[in-house]
Parts: sequence; C-alpha cells; structure tokens
Amino acid sequence: MIIAVDGPSASGKGTIAKALAKHFGYYYLDTGTLYRMVGLKVLHLGLDPTDEQACAAVAASIDPASFADAELRGELVGGYASKVAMLPKVRAALLHFQRDFAARKPGAVLDGRDIGTVICPEAEYKFFITASFEARAKRRHLESAGATLASIKADIKARDERDATRAIDPLKPAKDAVVIDTSDLTPDQALAHALTAMGS
Ligand code: DC
Repeated sequence: MIIAVDGPSASGKGTIAKALAKHFGYYYLDTGTLYRMVGLKVLHLGLDPTDEQACAAVAASIDPASFADAELRGELVGGYASKVAMLPKVRAALLHFQRDFAARKPGAVLDGRDIGTVICPEAEYKFFITASFEARAKRRHLESAGATLASIKADIKARDERDATRAIDPLKPAKDAVVIDTSDLTPDQALAHALTAMGS
C-alpha cells in the first residue's frame, strides 16, 4: 500500500502525510529531507548548486538514516534543496532510495513534489495538498525564528517558481490525485478529508 502526498512548501502535506502514516501504521518518508540533505552538504562544501556532476556525487553519498538535523529545516537550505532538485542526475541518485522505501510493508506514505507523478505513479492513493499563498507564508512565518513575513514571501515565491517550472519532474498534481486545499482547515479537518476520500 502506497500513499503519495504532493504539494508546495507549507501546504500542510507533511502534517497530513504523517497523520495518515500514524493512522494506518505505515512507514513515513519526507522526501524533501533528501533534497535538503544534498542542499546542506553542497552549502557546507562551498559547491556550486548548478554543478550537476558535483551535486550528483553529493547525492550519491548522503546517508538518509542521519535525518535529524535542525539545520535542514531553514529556508536557506530549502532554497539550495530546490536548486539541486532541478538537476536530473541528483534526482536519479535519490530515486532508488525512495522507491525502495515505498515498497516497505505493510505500507508507506511519502510526501514531496513528484511522488504521485514520478516516484510512485502506481500508488493506491494520491493527494495533492495546496493552500493559498498567504496561508502558506503565515505558517512559515509562525515557524521561523525572526525572519520577516516579506522575506518569507519572497523565498516561497522563488522556490514555488523553481519547483513548478523546472524541466524535470516539476511540481504538479497527478491526474488521479485528490486535491485538498488546507487554507481554512485545521490539521484534524485535513486528515478527515483525506480519510473520507480514501473511504475510511
Ligand atoms: O518539501 P521541502 O520544502 O522540504 O522540499 C525542499 C525542496 O526539495 C523543494 O523546494 C523541492 C525539492 N523536492 C523535490 O524536488 N522533490 C521532492 N519529492 C521533494 C522535494
């Protein structure tokens, strides 16, 4: 059983995906963390995030088991993640780990940008989570330590544009995805919508 949850940053996709995994007792993978790990390492090594060879070598070397790094969450690393995510060789280097994870029994929930379209087009359930730009910016602002709302809006806009217009695996809903707009929903309400769509 595979549940694919895609959507832009701060749409609430991680919250819904985690809640679904908990509800069904499935494994959960935040695939954005993989790109963030590559982005952070590229940043630390002082590499050029447009250098495909160098970034792909970094992607091949990351250890997805070493997930918990508070530094991964910031918008600086998010920006680097979004840049390295444009490179086909980086995406290819991260593909197998994601597909292997999706095959875990009894099931797996993966969230990201291309789960329903590219990583797991065969997923039994697909969701595309969205929210208004204002709602997403406010959420990020509440989470952020000190960044201004204006700078957060600029960062989200730039990242949205890169993620949705890149040549390879852009952010877009799978044709068979259920779209949930979380702008005016609490996390519990969003989960309830998803469970209803799944018939449970
Ligand atoms: O979900 P996130 O904000 O942690 O993701 C960080 C970046 O990683 C995002 O801007 C684009 C990239 N990404 C991707 O290209 N494909 C995915 N499946 C997940 C994330």
